Amino acid sequence: MNQRYRKTIIAGNWKMNKTPSETRALIDELKTLINRVKWCDIVLCVPFVNIPAAIKATKGFRVAIAAQNMHYEKSGAYTGEISAAMLAELGVKYVIIGHSERRQYFGETDTTVNLKVRAALEAGLRPIVCVGESLTQREQGVTLEQIRMQVKIALGGVEGTSVKRVVIAYEPIWAIGTGKTATADQAEEVCGWIRDCIREIYGARVARAVTIQYGGSMNAGNAHELLSKLDVDGGLIGGASLKAAEFAAIVNAANQ
Ligand code: 13P
Repeated sequence: MNQRYRKTIIAGNWKMNKTPSETRALIDELKTLINRVKWCDIVLCVPFVNIPAAIKATKGFRVAIAAQNMHYEKSGAYTGEISAAMLAELGVKYVIIGHSERRQYFGETDTTVNLKVRAALEAGLRPIVCVGESLTQREQGVTLEQIRMQVKIALGGVEGTSVKRVVIAYEPIWAIGTGKTATADQAEEVCGWIRDCIREIYGARVARAVTIQYGGSMNAGNAHELLSKLDVDGGLIGGASLKAAEFAAIVNAANQ
C-alpha cells in the first residue's frame, strides 16, 4: 500500500452466495466487527438480487456496494442482462468487470471487458477490472505479457482523467479458490508491472493514483504481508469475505 498517493480498497466478492436475508445477516455481523475505518474503503460485491438489501443494510456504515458484472449496452433486447444505469440508480458504486470466472464460463473477452469498462465509467460506476494469468501461462513464463495485453485492451479509449476511477485487480487464476496464494513478492511484481503499463499510457502522475488490488486465496493470515507491499493497494477477496470475522480481520490489516 502507498496511502500517500492512492486509496486502499478491500473488496469482498461474494460470487453466487447468500440470499437477500442472508445478506442482511452477514452485513449486520460485519457492522459489529468493523469499527472505525481510517485508511481503506470497503466494498461488498454482492449478487444482483441482493443489492437493495445490501444498500439498505449498509446505510450509515462506510461500505460501498458493488455488482459482479453488467452489460455494456445501455438498454435493449438482451434478455437476462443488467445495464450500468440500472445499477447506478440503485446506489451501486463499483462493478467487477472481467472476473476470470466470467471469462472462463461466460465467454467474456478482453474486448467485452473494454466495452464494459467504458460503459461503467460513463454511468458513473467505478470498474474493478480483473486480470490474471493461468498456471500454464505462469509456467511458460508469459505472465507479464498476458497481464500487459489484458490491461492495455481493458483501458483502450479510456481518458486519463477517468482512469483514476478504475481499480485493477490482479488475480492469478491458479490462486483463486485453491488455497494457493501468490507470494507477496509475486503479487508485488505483477501489481508493479500493471502500474508500469498504466504509466506507459497515462504517465507517472496517473499511474501512482490508481488502486491495484491482489486477489486469490487472500485471508486473515496472509493479508498483512501482501498489503505490506508498496504496489498492492488492497484485496479482492472471495471465500474469506463470506465469513464476517475473517473479512473484518483483513479490513483491520489494511487499516493499520
Ligand atoms: P478466493 O479468495 O476465494 O480465492 O477468490 C478470489 C476471487 O476470485 C475474488 O474475486
